[in-house]
Amino acid sequence: MRKVQLTETVLRDANQSLMATRLPYKDYEGILADMDKAGYYSIECWGGATFDSCLRYLGEDPWERLRNLRKNLPNSKLQMLLRGQNLLGYKHYHDDVVEKFIELSIKNGIDIIRIFDALNDFRNLETALSATMKYATPNTIASGCISYTQSPVHTVDKYIEMCRELKRMGFQTICLKDMAGTMSPYEAEHLIKGIKDAVGDIPLILHTHCTTGMAYMTITKAIESGIDIIDTATSCFSGGTSQPATETMFYAFQQYGIDCGLDEEKINKINDFFKPVKQKYIDNGQLNPKSLATDSQALVYKVPGGMLSNMIANLTDMKAMDKFDAALAEIPNVRKDLGYPPLVTPLSQMVGNQAVTNVLVGERYKNISKEVKNYIKGEYGTAPAPISEELKAKVLGDNAPVDCRIEDQKRTGEDFEAAKDALGSLARSEEDIMSYICYPDQTMKFLKARKEKEENEAVYTIEEI
Ligand code: CO
Repeated sequence: MRKVQLTETVLRDANQSLMATRLPYKDYEGILADMDKAGYYSIECWGGATFDSCLRYLGEDPWERLRNLRKNLPNSKLQMLLRGQNLLGYKHYHDDVVEKFIELSIKNGIDIIRIFDALNDFRNLETALSATMKYATPNTIASGCISYTQSPVHTVDKYIEMCRELKRMGFQTICLKDMAGTMSPYEAEHLIKGIKDAVGDIPLILHTHCTTGMAYMTITKAIESGIDIIDTATSCFSGGTSQPATETMFYAFQQYGIDCGLDEEKINKINDFFKPVKQKYIDNGQLNPKSLATDSQALVYKVPGGMLSNMIANLTDMKAMDKFDAALAEIPNVRKDLGYPPLVTPLSQMVGNQAVTNVLVGERYKNISKEVKNYIKGEYGTAPAPISEELKAKVLGDNAPVDCRIEDQKRTGEDFEAAKDALGSLARSEEDIMSYICYPDQTMKFLKARKEKEENEAVYTIEEI
């Protein structure tokens, strides 16, 4: 019997895509025992925006959350999403920081590390991969991930070449990450058949979003074309900007004669558990029902749904919504000038903001953001296609582009020393120090609050005695 396995995303990507990652651990702790027995390939539950959200909004220690997940999901593979050299932040970290972060992630309970780079510059995956191998347990899997996009340079051949490279580097599985949900059934068929022919012995994963309405068609074609694993979300947290529904795929699989290993009773129970959770966040406004709808505009402009809503918010703030169509039409120009970067964090924001600026100023590249300048200098890595010569001359002048890897490789431990000095007695573990290196302001606030809370509790206990 043919096998296709499922990764459940409700705790991470569905949570992130539908409700800005605001689901606290307490809200789903009660269903973890059942999730542990549901038969998923893996449970995506950490990384992405969860780390930032824990510290910034939820007053949770992300490492403690991970340890709790590990404790309550003893039989499951816990999966995280990592932005290569950017870890879970927005800048390149030194290699020693990346290595320590991976060591701690595995130590605290992560099994599968899905690693991607926004530009598919795989040099930015090397450190994370070698650290994963170095600290691997028998359950650890390093998954190499490709940011999927469409452009004249992103051909099937190019993607096959990328898969060969990921395999050569030593990744154990490969994931196609279609963050905008713009991969069509036709493209999925040609891409997956091509990849399977070229590197067939390595498990292939498809990660897509329902944003444009194509995901179910695309997944169906992907299954017919030989995909091994797909990402789905429990049905009440599926659809819209999230993933396709777990139970729906299970139902379709049965008729296909595909074994996905899921326990039907358990997956229904899991969905029943999350229904009131979802309702609570619809009622308090944190889950906007708009994000559950289909957005075909994202398909026309080939941009992720989140990027469109960002642009609308910015233009509304500036009372310039009349320029929306012009800004949308400017996106393909900016993308071409910048060498067709995939529109994923942080590039999606950078390209969107530059397009808006070009239109509002009325002259292209009269103002260039600091981030776009750094990108053109080479600080993020190598662009998929050459950057416009005119733009390069404007930003670089007589200077040569930089090699992002030279900075990354500085191994002085200086980040750890600086973090230790800044935190003093607030830091009690390597995990605290790592949180501070990644998100200094939020971590400082969080650790001060933790200390205050404990002092208050201590006084209370003494009085009671
Ligand atoms: Co996603």
